[in-house]
Amino acid sequence: MFYKLAQKVMFQMDPERAHNFAISSLRTTGNSPLNCFYAQHLAPAPVEFMGLTFPNPVGLAAGMDKDGECIDAFHAMGFGHIEVGTVTPRPQPGNDKPRLFRIKPAKAIINRMGFNNLGVDNLVANLKAKKSNAMVGVNIGKNKDTPVEQGKDDYLICMDKVYAYADYIAVNISSPNTPGLRTMQYGELLDDLLESLKNKQTELAEKHGKYVPIALKIAPDLTEEEIEKIAESLLKHKFDGAIATNTTLTRDGVSGLANSNETGGLSGKPLNKLSTKVIKYLAQCLKGEIPILGVGGINSAEDALDKLDAGASMVQIYSGFIYQGPKLIKDIVDAYRSK
Ligand SMILES: Cc1cc2nc3c(=O)[nH]c(=O)nc-3n(C[C@H](O)[C@H](O)[C@H](O)COP(=O)(O)O)c2cc1C
Repeated sequence: MFYKLAQKVMFQMDPERAHNFAISSLRTTGNSPLNCFYAQHLAPAPVEFMGLTFPNPVGLAAGMDKDGECIDAFHAMGFGHIEVGTVTPRPQPGNDKPRLFRIKPAKAIINRMGFNNLGVDNLVANLKAKKSNAMVGVNIGKNKDTPVEQGKDDYLICMDKVYAYADYIAVNISSPNTPGLRTMQYGELLDDLLESLKNKQTELAEKHGKYVPIALKIAPDLTEEEIEKIAESLLKHKFDGAIATNTTLTRDGVSGLANSNETGGLSGKPLNKLSTKVIKYLAQCLKGEIPILGVGGINSAEDALDKLDAGASMVQIYSGFIYQGPKLIKDIVDAYRSK
């Protein structure tokens, strides 16, 4: 009820202004009695993923809370985990505005934000300030002006800085909005990146006395052959998990609608089937040896259960959360419990 009202107001605003308004409201109310407007207590529905136990299988996908400012507020809403980021070593402004577009009739979003974020040091300060026991994944990326060939170094810098404060680390090489980034999903660049990250993980696990799993986030715009190659690399390097998928460059399901010609990644309902298909094939290639976190177009409990049936162990939501509000978290958790 409260969300429907808030959504009515926010959908009158420019999407990025609405986003910033929501983030600043959540930041200030997350730990105050005012969080009663959105807090919900959900029955526990524990799920194992990458050796960790999460309180329920529904997480907030990366990109909503890029700087980790509202972790406690999202935790109060009932999310089983919050993936913050994508964060880069140095702060960067992202692409020119406007860069965020709603396609309301399709319950979709197009964004070309370009990793706007305040940098990894700021994120670490926010992680240290977190008051709740929310489980947090940190999604890491490279700065736009770091050449792809040196991109690996940016991931290692971020990993080093966030390791002690993260429950898991997500390696994002699948955003369509950083030029060249998706080329890291292929061949030697990928192999080299995964190997370096695993070595770094071993070193940091020893230093901090804790093992923090790392997962690779992939795009939905991959051929079966490309998925097979990625799976091979993940298995070879004993990666801990995979996150499938990021936004798509395709425009199926939105053509002709206002904003559908905007450049950027498409998310929300039109992405659902494509992302589930990628999860299914990836699961087949990973042979149950590496778990998958399913994300992309989940707009109902049924969509989430489809992702689990396709081989995902847990799910995340972003666009569906914008269109449905916190009730979607509860719907999925309830459906999971009665499965
Ligand atoms: C505005 C916006 C910003 C996003 N930023 C990021 C990001 O920084 N890093 C990332 O890995 N994914 C990012 N994503 C992708 C989401 O995490 C998710 O993978 C994608 O939107 C598909 O899920 P959905 O259909 O539930 O939105 C972003 C998505 C949106 C809509």
